[in-house]
Amino acid sequence: MKKIADNIYHFGYIQEAGGANSYFVKGRANWLINSPKPTAQLLTQLKELGGVDYIFGTHRDVVLHVDAMAKHFNAKRIFHELDIDAMPDAEIVLVGDQEQTLADDEQFLAIPAAGHTEGHCMLLYAGQFLFIGDGVLVSGDKIIVGPAEWTWQSVELNIESVRRLTSLTLSCILPDHGQCLQLEPEEMRKRILTAVEEARSASVDPAERVEALNIYIDEMRALGQTAQVNKMLLELNKVVAHKA
Ligand SMILES: [Fe+2]
Repeated sequence: MKKIADNIYHFGYIQEAGGANSYFVKGRANWLINSPKPTAQLLTQLKELGGVDYIFGTHRDVVLHVDAMAKHFNAKRIFHELDIDAMPDAEIVLVGDQEQTLADDEQFLAIPAAGHTEGHCMLLYAGQFLFIGDGVLVSGDKIIVGPAEWTWQSVELNIESVRRLTSLTLSCILPDHGQCLQLEPEEMRKRILTAVEEARSASVDPAERVEALNIYIDEMRALGQTAQVNKMLLELNKVVAHKA
């Protein structure tokens, strides 16, 4: 467990299918963004921090351990309707593409950000910390729009979702994959714009797309998301036919 800011913790990265970075925020209520593996040691740490009231899932690929964690702490799960087959029992279902305050606490704002998946959603905390999901990766101090090969709904929508972030005053982005990045807001805005420009001119490598699709299909199978498996098998067939 690593402290990012006074009341924000990073629980590390889970490599398994359905895993990702997960974070904890101690606000008026206690929040997890994605879920770490609920080991005995971690459950004790979370209990000492006051337990968990809400678990925000960024999208369908990273739902591993959320149900078990929610059950342990009787926490409410928050998930977007367009990925809801990945978390059908979520207590709070986000609807539509408008930003919305969560749990009657203006410090927590859900930002639907379609593109990586249909129901991909970001969470803005305190107006400056953005749990950015998979729409963006961070490598070192570089921001990279999620590569086209690893985008499951629409590359164009994902780029537009990231571009819209330039209207925010962000000092820290916390991705599902890669490190957290803290910068002055103006520098953050510049780097997001640079990432968007690079993404707009990037080409798709068909061989890498095939490899990514095969990995993703296996992950979706492991998570029991049959409809997504079938959708991606169709996409895989198209890419392979086009390559041939
Ligand atoms: Fe993802």
